Amino acid sequence: MSEGRAAVRGLDPDRAAATAGPAAGPTAGLDQPGVDALPPAPHLLVTGGAGFIGSCFVREILARGDGTRITVLDKLTYAGDRANLAPVEADPTQAARFRFIRGDIADPAVVDPLVEEADAVVNFAAESHVDRSILDPEAFLRTGVFGVHVLLEACRREAERAAAGSRLGPRRQPRRAPRFLQVSTDEVYGSVPIGQAGEEDRLEPRSPYAAAKAAGELLVRSYVVTYGLDALITRGSNTYGPYQHPEKLIPLFITNALDDQPLPLYGDGLQRRDWLYVTDHAGAIEHVLRFGTSGEAYNIPGGMELANRELVAALLARLGKPWSLVRRVEDRPGHDRRYAMDGTKLARLGWRNRVPFEDGLTATIDWFRANERWWRSIRSGDWEAYYGRQYGARLSHSRPAPDPTADLAPELAPDLRTGPSRDEGR
Ligand code: NAD
Ligand code: DAU
Repeated sequence: MSEGRAAVRGLDPDRAAATAGPAAGPTAGLDQPGVDALPPAPHLLVTGGAGFIGSCFVREILARGDGTRITVLDKLTYAGDRANLAPVEADPTQAARFRFIRGDIADPAVVDPLVEEADAVVNFAAESHVDRSILDPEAFLRTGVFGVHVLLEACRREAERAAAGSRLGPRRQPRRAPRFLQVSTDEVYGSVPIGQAGEEDRLEPRSPYAAAKAAGELLVRSYVVTYGLDALITRGSNTYGPYQHPEKLIPLFITNALDDQPLPLYGDGLQRRDWLYVTDHAGAIEHVLRFGTSGEAYNIPGGMELANRELVAALLARLGKPWSLVRRVEDRPGHDRRYAMDGTKLARLGWRNRVPFEDGLTATIDWFRANERWWRSIRSGDWEAYYGRQYGARLSHSRPAPDPTADLAPELAPDLRTGPSRDEGR
């Protein structure tokens, strides 16, 4: 399976070197002079690494062949799929540096020995779909709160061993405590009607999903303050790309449109999201893991804010499908109107997104067209029960959605039909 041309420009092995010089030339204006918190050839524990963003992080790092070893711990919920790691497992040189363990981050018996071996823990594991959190919140709390607690406790024990000099590396050398990175979300800020959320803004989550993510963050903070844990948080914006589960807006609408099925647009479709290509999200997480300051949170914006109906128009234009597929359906309860974050802090750390929206969207559509087997297998079995519960009544009471290109002055309409310009995606 290929992730398309945009995908290969994600994590950049030279990026760390490019930001590692003195504070002049390429690093002028950066907060960090480039001190890498990870040892050479680190061993990473990636929890939730069989999901959408976690598997991208694993594929990109291992493909670079720099000696990094990765253990993935994943429960393989409906959202996790070992096929997402097939490119790694099929390549003998990558497979030699990779290990997969099926298990729950909320199970200390599984977690403790894995954290003992790791130089860093990157926690992607979560129930991640807002609509499912509205239908059934409990699993969100179990993984997002108790699971995070179990990971933090394991890191705390390793920090104590490191302080006592009894945490040793493979050659019996003294080893630092593991660094912990919690992958969080812009949804913790709640809806942002104007301006952009900064890292110090109040957390005002409004869905059970977002509340569980905010609770996980607060636990991380408390372990930094109370136990001096080396831990960081990233808050990514709406992510899209290959291997995304088809329950989320972009893959759902691509796969429905390919089958000429209705596209259920919630409410007026004027909710705004900021779109981030998956390799950029994964790359920014690795950058923060290496160069971020312990105890800090870092926003990861995508830089491409669009109203949902503008995004859907851009998708349909690329797919060559008519707007008449779009149905206005009953809104999501408590639906956040807008997400927007300030990315200055991450930019100061030396990170820049690389994939323009136009390229990312084209690569995503190409990938879904080319990997029909992957998404058809997910859209079978339990999928139908979920789809019926989430959309059955909504679609039966739906009506046509107003065509956004029809409201525009004729001179603007062609731009929207062919999608936003390349410059807008930067
Ligand atoms: P996903 O749903 O595709 O993947 C989640 C993975 O976690 C799956 O492989 C699942 O099997 C695994 N998992 C769930 N519960 C587990 C448990 N108890 N123990 C071990 N593994 C478990 O999610 P995603 O979209 O890749 O998101 C990854 C992370 O990034 C999540 O923490 C999410 O909150 C965050 N995030 C996502 C986005 C986005 O737009 N997708 C944006 C910002 C932040
Ligand atoms: O912002 C980051 C978050 O982005 C992540 O933390 C979440 O894990 C991820 O799922 C995503 O949350 P959203 O709720 O923003 O994404 P989703 O794809 O579910 O919806 C995007 C927008 O599209 C949102 O305004 C709801 C709308 N929507 C979604 C679906 C699934 C529809 O109009 N119809 C739909 O059928």
